[in-house]
Amino acid sequence: MKLNTRPLHRRFGVEILDIDLRALNDAEFEAINALWIEHPVILIRNQLLDEREQIHFSKQFGEINIHVRTDIRSRSNPEVVLVSNLRLESGQHIGALASGEAKWHTDSCYKPKPDTGSILYAIEVPEDGGKTAWANTQLAYEALSEDMKTKVNGLRGEFAYQIYSVDITEEPDVHKIRDLTPDVVHPMVLTQPGTNRRSLYLDPLQTYGIEDMPPAESRALLDNLVAHITAPAFVFQHKWQRGDIVLWDNCRVLHQREPFDPDTPRLMKRTTVFLPPDQYPVPFQP
Ligand SMILES: [Fe+2]
Repeated sequence: MKLNTRPLHRRFGVEILDIDLRALNDAEFEAINALWIEHPVILIRNQLLDEREQIHFSKQFGEINIHVRTDIRSRSNPEVVLVSNLRLESGQHIGALASGEAKWHTDSCYKPKPDTGSILYAIEVPEDGGKTAWANTQLAYEALSEDMKTKVNGLRGEFAYQIYSVDITEEPDVHKIRDLTPDVVHPMVLTQPGTNRRSLYLDPLQTYGIEDMPPAESRALLDNLVAHITAPAFVFQHKWQRGDIVLWDNCRVLHQREPFDPDTPRLMKRTTVFLPPDQYPVPFQP
């Protein structure tokens, strides 16, 4: 079946129109999945979902993940992570990220088997600031010179949980998680089954090196690739409205978030899923 859509960006991403995620039939779900296989970012507006409905929707794409950090999960449903600057009476934030800038990164790459599908639902958003941007690492790979493609294929990146912020964060569970998640290596170029399109896989906040490469050389190459990926030609920025849900594939995009006024409430709910390796690129051997 064909859904009503319109493009988000000249080169990637699609908005799906006229659909209610609480009452999806199989054909509609299959059509959404087909669009997600084609586009790394999908927007669906005007949704009214409770946590159970978001979980049910998410689970149709693949196994759902339970985040390793207990302090940012919904108190009712551990499958849901809260992304918010709201605080408990104790003063502790109810969720992750608060109101500061979230620099370019890709979710869950610090794990041996990342849950690569992120589904983020906006409950309350500020009028100004807090926009999220996605940079397409598939288009970025395809625009590399042939020499650079040859150079990066076969390289493996070294990843560690919040490697650059663990010593300055005030979030209580971060240190525990750093200890619980050993460093991992992943291929820096991923291939999507079916299309055979390749994408770059690295995280400016969590990739600290490249296997078998001296630190200065790997740092320079990583910085070069990040500058290339985040060039305006590959970036789509989204101004959130209440009721928006965005699906993205962490193997084909990086994302970032602008800061916003800390006194303006913002509440988002995120689920993540293990996208199936026979349809989506993944950084591990299925
Ligand atoms: Fe993120």
